[in-house]
This record gives sequence, structure tokens and C-alpha cells, in this order.
Amino acid sequence: MKRVGVLTSGGDCQGLNSAIRGLAKGLYEYYGKKVEIYGIIDGYRGLINGEYRLMKPEDFSGILTRGGTILGTSRQPFKQMRVIDDETNVDKVAAMKKTYKDLKLDCLVVLGGNGTHKSANMLSEEGLHVVSMPKTIDNDIWGTDITFGFQSAVDIATEVIDCIHTTATSHGRVFIIECMGHKAGWLTLHAGIAGGADVILIPEIPYDIKKVIETVKARTKSGKTFSILAVAEGAISKDIAELPKKKKKEAIANMMYPSISYKIAHEIEEATGQETRVTVPGHFQRGGSPNAYDRFITTRFGAACAKLIIDEKYGFMTAMINGEVVPVPLSEVAGKLKNVPVDSPIIKDAKSIGISFGD
Ligand code: F6P
Repeated sequence: MKRVGVLTSGGDCQGLNSAIRGLAKGLYEYYGKKVEIYGIIDGYRGLINGEYRLMKPEDFSGILTRGGTILGTSRQPFKQMRVIDDETNVDKVAAMKKTYKDLKLDCLVVLGGNGTHKSANMLSEEGLHVVSMPKTIDNDIWGTDITFGFQSAVDIATEVIDCIHTTATSHGRVFIIECMGHKAGWLTLHAGIAGGADVILIPEIPYDIKKVIETVKARTKSGKTFSILAVAEGAISKDIAELPKKKKKEAIANMMYPSISYKIAHEIEEATGQETRVTVPGHFQRGGSPNAYDRFITTRFGAACAKLIIDEKYGFMTAMINGEVVPVPLSEVAGKLKNVPVDSPIIKDAKSIGISFGD
């Protein structure tokens, strides 16, 4: 009997269930009744606490289009993994290894983002058989061209920008749409271009507020009554970006606005006199059904993970590189972030059609 555990960890996104379905179908297709799949509840928390359930083939039916995760998820920061909890005195790493051993697992499949992959690599180094799939709307996992959830989130954020366009035009206002992404600007960049934003601000390119204001003023001068800004939640001004690390953290923490977009909105309104509004779609971007592309890639990621297990090839993440699903060692993925390169052709193209990045 083959015994496989599966967990989803970190922030949810579209495509988690379709990925689990792809994995399960691949395993049942090969092993038939000779495989048991254990769903670990709420991510690493379930692995620590020994909370799981034996899944039935029916559990994986009808979930291709379902948003969220049928297994539940939680954030278990990697930094805390080796810290013994004062109150409970639990050694989390030992507890996870125990659950794995108690269940007599042959492999643990982990679906998650950056933090999740650090922990997955740690478990792999601890001797567990681990394979993984790259999940996050942020698209910032190193080693894969694309993560699942990203394209569905881009669709949603783009639709938000489309809707804001009509109201911005009617009122002749400046509008800021704040997209998710604290460290990486992929989502804002793609949705901003797809939605026809005039200004795109991402964490990778610190902005100069004067340049942003110049763009808005230039549009007004040319007869445009409205402007659209797509701003990543992690966008940062040049002034702040240049501060030493500690001072930078303090400046961000002490900001007097609910988020960076409100600060930028205030500055634009002050300088231009034009009414400026902010829309924050927030977790809306992570919700609902995966789009066709995410269903497509998660089915492939799931099938590829099943194949790794069948081949007993452990310690890998299934990645998408040049349209092919390939295994990348967890040790290469863990601890790295895939940011938007500042010299990216995407940025060059966007700039060539007049989109401002505030730099
Ligand atoms: O999972 C990624 C992400 O959606 C980021 O884009 C965002 O900054 C963060 O998670 C939000 O985290 P939480 O759901 O814990 O508020």
C-alpha cells in the first residue's frame, strides 16, 4: 500500500483544489485501490497536531472549479518552526516527523508559497519524502515561470481596473487600485498593463512622487479627465527605499495611512487639486473559481507530482519552465524570491507605450 499525505499551506488561492484533484487522479489511476491519501488539515498546523483524515476518491470529485482549499490552510511562519513553543512545549519539527511516521507515509505533498517551501525543504533535509507544487497569487516563487493562482488573480484585478475605469471617466477622477503583493509586483504589473493603467507602482521600482504627479498633470493638460494608477501594496517611495533597513521598517510601520495607496492619493490630490480615490480589492483577488489557465496548469502540476511519487523521486517542486512541467530541487527553491527584474522586457514594453513607473 502506498500512503501519501497532502497539505495546503499559507494564504489560499484559486487552483488549490484542482491541483489536489490532479494529484489524486494521477495516484488512483496508477495505484488503483493500492494507495491511501491522507488530507492533512489546515497545513503544517495539522501535521504538527496530528490532524488529518483518510480521503476517499469521491472527495476529489467536483472540486476542479472550487475556490479555496478543501483541506483548510494556515500560516505557520518558517522562522518559528524550530522555536519550541513556551506554552505548549511542542517541538514542531519533531511533531511533524512523528505524524509522518505514525501515518507511515511514503511521501508528503505540499502546496504552498515561499514560506511553505522553506519548511518543505527543511522537512526534506530532515529525511522526509516531500514533493511540492508552487502556489501563490504573487507569482514570486523562484524556479518556476509561473505559480498557480496568479492568472486568476490577474483576471480579477484587471476586472476591478476595468470597472474603476468607467466610474473614473464619468467623474473625472484619479483612481488608485491597490493590488496584493508586498514584496513582488507581478500581479500589479500584469493587471495594470491588462487594465490600461497610466501609472504602475511596484516594490521593485521605488517611485518618486513628483514623477507620479507629473504624469497625472500631463494627462490633464492633454485633455484626459481621469487617471488610473495600479499600485502594489508593497510599493515604496524612493525616499523610504533609500533609508537603512531598520529606519525603513520604522517608516513603513509608522505611516499615518491605512496603506501606501492612501498616502499617494493624498499627495496627488494636494498637488493637482483633482479628486483622488482608492479601491482595495484585497482578498477578493484570491477568491472564487480558478480560471481556465489555472485549472490547466494545476492539473498538470498535480499529475507531475503523482509521477514523481510513482518514480520515488523526492525532494522536488514541480515547476513550469518554458511551457513544460519539470522538477526543480526544493533546496534550490527555498529561501529565494522571484522578483520582477527591473530590466524586464515587460517593463520596457510598458514604458514604450507611455506607462509611468514613477521612476
Ligand atoms: O498569499 C499571498 C498574499 O495574498 C499576498 O499577496 C498578501 O500580501 C498576503 O498574502 C495577505 O496575507 P493574509 O491573507 O494573511 O492577510
